[in-house]
Amino acid sequence: MSSKRGTPLNCTETLLTVSIGAQYYRKWRIPDLSEASFYPGRFTTSDFYLNKQIFAPPTMDAAAIYRKMIDSERNIYEPAELHHQNRHDPSHFVDLMICQQNRSNDLKVDGNKLVSESSGKSYTVRENVVDVRVDAESNDEWARLNEQFLNYHRSLSPFTLINSTPVINYVSVKSGIGQLKNARVLDVGAGTGHMFCSFFRFPETLDYFLLDPNLRLLHDQFIRVYPGLTELKLSHFLGYSEDLPFVDESFDLVMSYSSIDHFKDFPQFIESAKRVLKSGGTLLISSHLDKDSKGSSFGERIDSLFSSTGLEKLARSRYFRKWAVGHDDHTYHFENSQPIRQVMEEKGFVVEQDEEFGNYFFLVGRKG
Ligand SMILES: C[S@@+](CC[C@H](N)C(=O)[O-])C[C@H]1O[C@@H](n2cnc3c(N)ncnc32)[C@H](O)[C@@H]1O
Repeated sequence: MSSKRGTPLNCTETLLTVSIGAQYYRKWRIPDLSEASFYPGRFTTSDFYLNKQIFAPPTMDAAAIYRKMIDSERNIYEPAELHHQNRHDPSHFVDLMICQQNRSNDLKVDGNKLVSESSGKSYTVRENVVDVRVDAESNDEWARLNEQFLNYHRSLSPFTLINSTPVINYVSVKSGIGQLKNARVLDVGAGTGHMFCSFFRFPETLDYFLLDPNLRLLHDQFIRVYPGLTELKLSHFLGYSEDLPFVDESFDLVMSYSSIDHFKDFPQFIESAKRVLKSGGTLLISSHLDKDSKGSSFGERIDSLFSSTGLEKLARSRYFRKWAVGHDDHTYHFENSQPIRQVMEEKGFVVEQDEEFGNYFFLVGRKG
């Protein structure tokens, strides 16, 4: 792998580096975040967000770790590659699935397809990824999505990881859900699935299902950061949050991290999540907030500039322009968690935790 050591910082890198300083600023603004920024025990400063040793002394600061990553762990200039993931074969979970067209659960593995015997309908399976998008047969977007994914992740920088890691750790620790063991988990809008390794302390004990309509499988950068993604077995579906292809009462936890504001119909997702949760099961929803900073204090305006949607967009804009990847694919802009909480309660969840911190929130609901 070629090293770019000694190359002057380009505009994007400069912004990324500034963002590290911004992260400290934001930590100061988010109450209690510092105490939850790193897991005790298994995760130390030397692991940082890497979930593995990078041989950094415990006192090494974020900026130094960032430079070390650029130099020796990953190279943001390298073309992205997809890597094979250690996915469960569909026979592992086929009894959990319903055929969405006729709502039956008589799916059988047949070569590279999952076929419903009663209706004759089928889903494509490639590399153990089941494609349950209803339009997939007539509109096979696999190649286009793959290309888009690779281009998108060329812009996915250490910025995202550095910015999001303290937030992930905060939600994991404060909700207590990061300690979950021996459970069946559905991550909706899971993207690359890095939450499996970055949010959960005991991922090897979880039966983890990852659902997303885009082919954001795995990428070399994510594997370098979360090598557990290649070792841990998971089950991957191309599908939509609004129509989860599972039989009722299948999961102990359904989670949506940083994805609810991308869904087409979030109340429909909450309805669908309730159906697939076991009685007493947990729904975790967490994402960022789009607070209106107009007319607010100087500090709040600075905070919004350094937010993950502010500086991050700027840092990525070059790539967005070059690769014509959508700049903002959000369908909802939540200023607070209230609209989501309200729908959760309307659908019969008991909301046990509801916390806003800085530009983020998390909600934990229990199915009665
Ligand atoms: C900002 S990414 C978050 C990914 C991941 N949860 C993470 O934290 O890295 C939002 C994800 O939502 C997915 N998404 C968009 N619309 C969706 C839908 N209707 N159902 C499920 N996922 C959807 C996108 O493909 C994308 O991967």
